[in-house]
Parts: sequence; C-alpha cells; structure tokens
Amino acid sequence: MNQTKLPRIAMGSDHGGYDLKLEILNHLRERGFTVEDFGSHNRESVDYPIYAKKVGEAVADGTFDLGILVCGTGIGMSLAANKIDGIRAAAVSDCFTAKATREHNDANILCLGGRTVGAELAMMIADIFVDTPFSGDERHVRRISMYS
Ligand code: RB5
Repeated sequence: MNQTKLPRIAMGSDHGGYDLKLEILNHLRERGFTVEDFGSHNRESVDYPIYAKKVGEAVADGTFDLGILVCGTGIGMSLAANKIDGIRAAAVSDCFTAKATREHNDANILCLGGRTVGAELAMMIADIFVDTPFSGDERHVRRISMYS
C-alpha cells in the first residue's frame, strides 16, 4: 500500500456493529478518507459473514486498501474475513495492538466489537490502524509469507 496517498477504506457491519460503524465512517470521511459502506444499512439482525465476505473481497481484489468490519465482538467478522485469500483480519480492542498489527502483520482488515469497545476508543484504534504503515522488515515479510 502506498502510504503517501490516503488508503481507500471499505467498511461493513452487522446489527451488533451498525452504530459504531457509522461513527467511525463519519469520522474517517471527516478526515478526508474515501470510505465505502458495504452494509448492513440498518439495525435489523443479519448474518455477519455476508458483510465480512463483501469487504474482504473488495480489499483482496485491490479495489480498497484497507477494511474495517464491526460486529458485536469483532471475532466473528475476523474469523469469516480470514477465510478469504489475501486477507489478514485482526480483532483489536487496544491502541498498541492496532499499531502492532499494521507494523508486524500487515493486517489489512481491522475488526472491532460494537458491544465491547466504546466509540472514542474505537475511533482512536481506527485512526492508528489506517495511519500506520507496514514496517516492511524482512522478518515480518518472511513470517507473513508463512501464513498460508
Ligand atoms: C450477533 O449477535 C453476534 O453474534 C455478532 O455480532 C458477533 O459478535 C459475532 O462474532
């Protein structure tokens, strides 16, 4: 990813992450990012793997640089998104991990829990995630190549 240009961001949620997704989406758009919302588009109960797949495929095919998925815990979204080739999705609930998973794992999808992380912390985590480049260190490139 070219960090000199702002990354294009794909977002998705289920009902458990809908409200938090909108807060993060508005925040990132206010910061000037291009953000597309792949749904869901209301608070009705839906199956989160549908949205993990939509966002995961949009990141894996290069249409978007990074993704952010929000469900109740972030766990289901991360498990589903990680089934897609080329996706490295990380469920994150603290700022240190947000930075480390970009620098060390080159994570390309951030998964957050709408029922576990407050909005202010979630926006800090999202900011760190989208602002932190992969370190590119040889040891991390090697380890990532060993994932599959
Ligand atoms: C939906 O109730 C909930 O299971 C989902 O949002 C997520 O937390 C799954 O991991």
